[in-house]
Amino acid sequence: MKPINIGLLGLGTVGGGTVSVLTRNAEEIARRAGRGIQISHAAAKQYDADSIQGLEQIQHISDDAFSVVAEPDVDIVIELIGGYSPAKELVLKAIENGKHVVTANKALIALHGEEIFAAAQAKGVTVAFEAAVAGGIPIIKAVREGLAANRIEWIAGIINGTGNYILTEMRDKGRDFDDVLKEAQALGYAEADPTFDVEGIDAAHKLTILGSIAFGMPLQFDKTYTEGIGAIEQQDVLYAGELGYRIKHMGITRIKENGVEQRVHPTLIPERRLIANVDGVMNAVLVKSDAVGPTLYYGAGAGSEPTASAVVADVVDVVRALTTDPENRVPHLAFQPDALSDISILPMEEVETAYYLRLQAVDRPGVLADVTRILGDAGISIEAILQKESNDNNATVPVILLTQRVQEKFMNQAIEKIEANENIQDSVVRIRVETMS
Ligand code: HSE
Repeated sequence: MKPINIGLLGLGTVGGGTVSVLTRNAEEIARRAGRGIQISHAAAKQYDADSIQGLEQIQHISDDAFSVVAEPDVDIVIELIGGYSPAKELVLKAIENGKHVVTANKALIALHGEEIFAAAQAKGVTVAFEAAVAGGIPIIKAVREGLAANRIEWIAGIINGTGNYILTEMRDKGRDFDDVLKEAQALGYAEADPTFDVEGIDAAHKLTILGSIAFGMPLQFDKTYTEGIGAIEQQDVLYAGELGYRIKHMGITRIKENGVEQRVHPTLIPERRLIANVDGVMNAVLVKSDAVGPTLYYGAGAGSEPTASAVVADVVDVVRALTTDPENRVPHLAFQPDALSDISILPMEEVETAYYLRLQAVDRPGVLADVTRILGDAGISIEAILQKESNDNNATVPVILLTQRVQEKFMNQAIEKIEANENIQDSVVRIRVETMS
């Protein structure tokens, strides 16, 4: 049978890995797919030819991505350029030309997925995006297919490798934030714009996709609460450890009676949980479903060949389903397009979590009593309290509190009152706490 021709857009970290994996494992992949798969055309503005194994097997390489998506011989387009434009125009053009698309572009899917899937459905082609979430972990397949019998209750994931690498190095080696970030960039983990990693935007893109396929609702990136790791200090990492917790940058989505929580923020999680021990660039996604209970998916969330692994698996999936009726393929967002629900995303003020609070208090009798009274009056129960030695010359001391669960709006009001107290200096540091159970 004639081999399937791929048009590859982008020969960067993931594009290079895709060429290597597809050529190195060509025979094994053909046995799985039922026919050979070859990259016939590729386009890239620039690339490092020496670092890509198998590049010589690509017949046509140019810098014109639009000519690749218009090429009649190309059956499947792999988009690995990233960003919104021209990736969106290229993907829509490929679909218009009747080509299936595989992409690792989470920003594109999170923001423009609806439009892209509608175009693909109208044309009877597939847009596959496994590599967009958690790199090499087949989490899209697990949620969309493996858990299809379940009502999913919540998903919590470490879904940004760069952020996890930074937090791990800060905790284990006391390293400086910027220094670790530079290393992650050099290793090809970080986004082109690394603020996407540290400010949580990259994780929010991925969580938006996970929330949609978990609960069968439209993609709503603009409603995803997003808080980065830039404000995490070494002392908070240490105090969390003393209390038996690790700080992880988590993406959490949970269905409640009145809506869906969808939030990315630093989170204290008990160190005895498996997911608290996911370190370095590794990702993990914990899914709580009603029938199977909790399932945990772990693996490399970024990097050349790990991400290529998900890209190539998508290509194999597309090839296997080429002769099937488009209406009977796995729906893009797991649920049939006409069965998506209009459940709303809850504002952060309505979300309920426990909290870690760190305040800098004047070391004077009655100050702690004032703080606990404010919390008590707000109906907030204290779980643990730590008072540390003075860390400045002004006779103030850090006080760390762990609270029980409370709605965010009540915690906001209590923090405002604590900060207004003349014996409390600086802003209160607040990190949400989840037990993951
Ligand atoms: N910048 C991303 C990360 C790459 O660090 O996880 C994978 O999406």
